[in-house]
Amino acid sequence: MLPSDRAGRPIAVAAGRWAVVTGASAGLGAEFAHRLAARGHHLVLVARRRDRLDALATQLHNDFGVDTLVVPADLTDPASTDLIVTALQDNGIHADVLINSAGFGTARLLVDEDPERVRDEIAVNVTALTSLTIALLGDLYAAEHGVLVNISSTASHQPIPSMAVYAATKAYVSALTEALWQESRASALTVVNLCPGPTETEFFAAAGSDRFRVGHVYTAREVVDAAMSAIDAGTRGPTLTIGVPNRLTALAARLLPRRLGLAVTARVVGLGAATHRPAAAAAGASPLSAVASLKAAGPHNADPHNGGPVNADPDNAVPSEKVNAS
Ligand SMILES: NC(=O)c1ccc[n+]([C@@H]2O[C@H](COP(=O)([O-])OP(=O)(O)OC[C@H]3O[C@@H](n4cnc5c(N)ncnc54)[C@H](OP(=O)(O)O)[C@@H]3O)[C@@H](O)[C@H]2O)c1
Repeated sequence: MLPSDRAGRPIAVAAGRWAVVTGASAGLGAEFAHRLAARGHHLVLVARRRDRLDALATQLHNDFGVDTLVVPADLTDPASTDLIVTALQDNGIHADVLINSAGFGTARLLVDEDPERVRDEIAVNVTALTSLTIALLGDLYAAEHGVLVNISSTASHQPIPSMAVYAATKAYVSALTEALWQESRASALTVVNLCPGPTETEFFAAAGSDRFRVGHVYTAREVVDAAMSAIDAGTRGPTLTIGVPNRLTALAARLLPRRLGLAVTARVVGLGAATHRPAAAAAGASPLSAVASLKAAGPHNADPHNGGPVNADPDNAVPSEKVNAS
């Protein structure tokens, strides 16, 4: 029989079931794997670094007597979801718990970002998380007490200049998971949108930037403790933000006008005034005014060597009403 909480409800994260953890080779994923194994969960461990996963699998089996399945997978690969699902099917495993922890951040001005790395960031943080969630959702709903934890971030609470893509991927994770929380209310599935703030893991090294290390830095154990306790107690809402300071910041982000919020956030991450403002905009002119005056002068006067359009063909000229689009 499952242990129960004070209200007599079964504790959601309990023994003898299979948990799939992505990003299990480090940080929050590895911590979740430990804590779930300590409760008697069998573990499917997913990440790229096979040596780390093998060592963790051996340790969890020796320490807690649980079964483990190691699935090395690069989640930037669109085929990775099928790879994981096939591994589960081949071993007759139905997932009761899914912890989507794999993820990483980039921290540069958008103009300086490496397009390939950003594509990988979106592939791991957004695409893989979404497709694995959908692929395992049937099993999670069928489970007696299914649990889904998607690891988002306090970065999801507001856009972040100099971490624009990371914050946007996490805003996506939060929106997706909160919607799923509502969709799942009539089911036995517990859905948690977990929003840690800065946490001491390999995350900062992987990002190659300390820009993320703002305010109090929690340990992975503190974050996972809080998540497990909230799940045991029965979550009241879709999002679990770790720590009072982070919850206050989230509240401020909701209440502040967007423009002010962005200015405050830029300061917090150490950005000064905008660095890539066109000279015309800085001088107070509309960014569209140069185009408008060009059009007014007519395509024959547009000299590409003086910034005019290369294709100065009157037949291909943009209709004037489009120039004034707002
Ligand atoms: N630490 C923080 O301050 C913080 C704060 C808020 C939210 N988060 C979020 O928490 C989650 C876990 O991060 P963490 O702090 O535990 O960082 P971490 O220690 O760097 O762990 C990241 C994990 O993601 C895996 N991963 C990265 N790219 C992958 C890929 N292409 N394919 C498969 N696995 C991949 C890594 O495994 P391999 O390298 O072995 O593949 C590793 O296991 C992330 O979603 C992160 O955005 C972190």
